Amino acid sequence: MFQSKIAGIGYYVPKNVYSNNDLKRFMDTSDEWIQERTGIKERRYADRLEETTTTMGIEAAKVAIERAGTTAEEIDFIIFATLSPDYYFPGCGVLLQREMGMKEVGALDIRNQCSGFVYALSVADQFIKTGMYKNILVVGSEKHSFALDYSTRGRAVSVIFGDGAGAVVLQSTTEAGKGILSTHLHADGADAEKLAMYYPGASGGKWLDNKPQWPEQELGGMLMTAEMLEDGTAFPYMDGQTVFKKAVVKFPEVIQEALLKNDLRTTDIDMLVPHQANLRISQFVQKTLGLPDEKVFNNIQRYGNTTAASVPIALCEAWEEGKIKAGDLVCLAAFGAGFTWGSALIRW
Ligand code: ACO
Repeated sequence: MFQSKIAGIGYYVPKNVYSNNDLKRFMDTSDEWIQERTGIKERRYADRLEETTTTMGIEAAKVAIERAGTTAEEIDFIIFATLSPDYYFPGCGVLLQREMGMKEVGALDIRNQCSGFVYALSVADQFIKTGMYKNILVVGSEKHSFALDYSTRGRAVSVIFGDGAGAVVLQSTTEAGKGILSTHLHADGADAEKLAMYYPGASGGKWLDNKPQWPEQELGGMLMTAEMLEDGTAFPYMDGQTVFKKAVVKFPEVIQEALLKNDLRTTDIDMLVPHQANLRISQFVQKTLGLPDEKVFNNIQRYGNTTAASVPIALCEAWEEGKIKAGDLVCLAAFGAGFTWGSALIRW
């Protein structure tokens, strides 16, 4: 039986730093409001034209591949998680494959928002456990800054998110008890509209109370209209309080599920790396689980919420800082739009 282990990990964040005070140039906000509600002090924004979700993913992937002691040619499958792809279609996986000069290996794109990386890792783990692939590149990357509403109207959402990418090479191993012990995935579509970007999309507003006025023509023209940019419906929507209430229940639940599956307890966790949704959510989860500060890694203060990239960026930083060592029990957990959530337990 094959196991999968993280053989190499890397991350990339853009150079441009925007502090909370910098955002005051665009909207009515304050450093106090943002820090008190989210813990965020600053975030990175990609170069508007030169950097894309794919290019940031490539930078993270290069580091992960090198640290895994392998090469791009040895990668036999690509999984790319993002909610901010370069194109509506095709996905970023094929762009990464082309730009990195990889072989004609399969490229799968994952659309699970903040839990995208945990979902991607779980899919990769199954492929390795069955013996189908040996070296899978798993990437989480986001360029949020191109599509948020940076006016006062959009401030409750836009101040939270930042750009960046993280990647791992998941490799086949026969060392028993090492690597990914188990992964756990869940979803509940009941609140799908509570954290969402409705347009461009093909729903025509079917699931929404406020249906848009579409052009009067027999076919086509129903992805997005100029009015949507005007009235703000083209931007991501978040019912923050619903997200908060659900997240603080589902994070601990899915972590406990992973521990139970492996006959372990919260005291066995050496490092919890939660999706960096909001520092208040992470602190709530930490308190619920009774974990000390040194066993929970947070970096949202410096990067904001980078959605599918947040878990691999945080995992990589924790490892680089020596906070994760060989033999440690590491728990990854995420919750996000959908709602979708998941966890992964790893013996490092
Ligand atoms: N700066 C200043 N004032 C703001 C800002 C801002 N950036 N954003 C909103 N406000 C104002 C509002 O307009 C409102 O003003 P009013 O009282 O005059 O109407 C006031 O602040 C309070 O607004 P609320 O939306 O009620 O603020 P709340 O206390 O709920 O905090 C927040 C909003 C931070 C989003 C909170 O609901 C929260 O923490 N939710 C969790 C959601 C989250 O963190 N999601 C992360 C992304 S999703 C994920 O990763 C799973």
